[in-house]
Amino acid sequence: MAKYEIIGGNPLNGQVVISGAKNAVVGILPATLLVQGKCRIENVPNISDVRILLDILRSMNAQFEWVDHSTLEIDTTGVKSCEPDSSLVTKLRASYYLMGALLGRFGKAHVALPGGCNFASRPIDQHIKGFLALGADVDETDEYIELSAGADGLQGARISLDVVSVGATINIMLAATLMPGQTIIENAAKEPHIVDLANFLNTMGARITGAGTDTVKIRGVKALKGGTYTVIPDQIEAGTYMAAAVATGGDVLVQNVIPKHLECITTRLREMGAKITEFDDSIRVQREGSLRRITVKTMPYPGFPTDMQAQICVCMSLANGISRLTESVYETRFFGYCSELESMGANIQINGKTASITGTDKLFGTTVRANDLRAGAALVIAGLAAEGTTYVENIHYVERGYERLIEKLTALGAQIRRIED
Ligand code: EPU
Repeated sequence: MAKYEIIGGNPLNGQVVISGAKNAVVGILPATLLVQGKCRIENVPNISDVRILLDILRSMNAQFEWVDHSTLEIDTTGVKSCEPDSSLVTKLRASYYLMGALLGRFGKAHVALPGGCNFASRPIDQHIKGFLALGADVDETDEYIELSAGADGLQGARISLDVVSVGATINIMLAATLMPGQTIIENAAKEPHIVDLANFLNTMGARITGAGTDTVKIRGVKALKGGTYTVIPDQIEAGTYMAAAVATGGDVLVQNVIPKHLECITTRLREMGAKITEFDDSIRVQREGSLRRITVKTMPYPGFPTDMQAQICVCMSLANGISRLTESVYETRFFGYCSELESMGANIQINGKTASITGTDKLFGTTVRANDLRAGAALVIAGLAAEGTTYVENIHYVERGYERLIEKLTALGAQIRRIED
């Protein structure tokens, strides 16, 4: 299995260009199933989650071509199957968006249960609640979900989510876009990628309003037609480089970002003592002195993202005093990386949903394992900041979500390489 070797201790300096948002594009690619004709999608990150989704779509008879390194042309008009290959579907979490998209296009779907990062129990009861409300019959086993139109047919409905769920909001939007009538999702997630999916669908002819608020309205249309769309920059990739700049004591201009999407991260890093300057589509992150302890609670957007929990924990491990980090989305997420960070010298006490992190002057290189995508990103940051050499194993998780990580970090002065075992 491949691993990263990182010789730590070099402050990151220079510029990095952020790629398109993983969690937007993994909704947009299944959404192309609703479109008749060719979609040209720009700013697509070439990461393994995207490549697997494309393999799934190709196996269903979709045609696609990379026009350049980040532009994809895709035409799903020839897709006839509503049963994607389960051996591919189980490789990633976002394959659950095929349920909503296929239900929306064909009125039925047979999709294996998703795989991906299993850092917590990740139920999909709210997705199913949505499909049922839209008139679907749902047959769920331990291995797959089968959806079909119920006796009264499929039609728009009002759905109030019991928990704020990104996945359920997106899946219901996909299912409802071509359905007759109006669908209203209450208590919807507000993440930037929800807005991006709505913008993509609207560009192709959908009628979706309210994305980015807690009430999303979808007025069904008869068909979508092809067009061109540019995916937003990845909020979490940007946040990861910002945290890396802070942890290593560097000075990094993070380019191709939407600063508004990063406010929750910027605020916390400023509280720690970092100097952050916002420009129109870039952010400069500088750390000169020591870091101060902070308190952070993860929350759905616009709160501090759970997907940045592990990376900020590395910064806290290097701050003065005791920081507190509370996880309110996925309680068990700490277990993916805290013991690994401790083996590098961090001091972390976990008590239920809250971790208390007593800062230390130095982390030390050792061999650690990534147990999920963001845990892996945090261990890379820790390795960059640590004294000595760190080996990060299980890097296939990291490669699910970070495009050209080695190349980007090397350009910032990091000593990191990928070693094939
Ligand atoms: N939940 C339910 N029932 C459901 C759905 C969710 O109880 O039917 C709960 C979850 O257990 C969790 C909370 O609701 O406690 C939020 O889950 P959500 O559905 O929002 O998460 P998700 O859609 O499965 C997406 C991202 C994750 C990110 C979360 C939270 C994708 C493909 N994944 O997951 O991204 O952590 O939203 O923002 O968009 C990552 O990129 O590393 C990643 C894991």
